[in-house]
Amino acid sequence: MGDGNDEDAHKVEAASINEIIKEVSEIADKFPFNDKEKHFRKEIISLVSKVNTDTLGLQLPSKMPSNIPFKVLAGNVYKKSTKFESSVFVFPKSGNKLPFHDHPNMEGFIKALKGKLLITSFSLLNSEEEKRLRKEEFKEGNEKVRPAKFEGTLLLDATTTTASSPSEVVNLNALTGNIHSIESIDGLGAFFDILIPGYHQAHGNVPCTFFEMDEKNLTSGKIYWLKVVPANLIPNLVSMGKLEMPSIVQLD
Ligand SMILES: [Fe+2]
Repeated sequence: MGDGNDEDAHKVEAASINEIIKEVSEIADKFPFNDKEKHFRKEIISLVSKVNTDTLGLQLPSKMPSNIPFKVLAGNVYKKSTKFESSVFVFPKSGNKLPFHDHPNMEGFIKALKGKLLITSFSLLNSEEEKRLRKEEFKEGNEKVRPAKFEGTLLLDATTTTASSPSEVVNLNALTGNIHSIESIDGLGAFFDILIPGYHQAHGNVPCTFFEMDEKNLTSGKIYWLKVVPANLIPNLVSMGKLEMPSIVQLD
């Protein structure tokens, strides 16, 4: 057949953000996922991979004014669910980042929308391992530190991707990669993420904890003690502004 038909066969159908979020919502209803239900993760990864600035109706400039008073801008795509969060984060310039933070008992799915983002992550230990280590290192009851295994860094590059070859989706879960930082390293950077469940749950809000890691040249696979950042210092550390963006009012 002719070239035209082949092109048609490869054309990726533009998904609507409403459809994507609706499907995410249906899967989020089935949380918690266990290891026998890996297909849920695969389905969300596939859905999140379809999200880009076009599906979000988001127009991002190539540069932002240098006097912008925030290091991060954040906006919600759909706010009405307690089962999941769907957000966009924008870093106005290189070096802007979300410092190390966790997502307690959540699953996360992250996709770069613009620029190049470096994700540095740690995995939490299971509760038995953490208990044993705290005992060995005389840190029982010390809530100012948390042990975690360094997983290394990953580059998410939105500058070389196309609709038919979207950038990869990073999945973190309750332990693996649960503590991470995300930094823009090539000018303005942005990412979309889904967190399941949401922060506002039936038994109360589940906030992130932020952490500091002073050591440089970390070794993958090694366990480090991260320092908990006191809650009153977080606004200084993160300096977050509101991102004006289209949001979904009603999932239909
Ligand atoms: Fe995060």
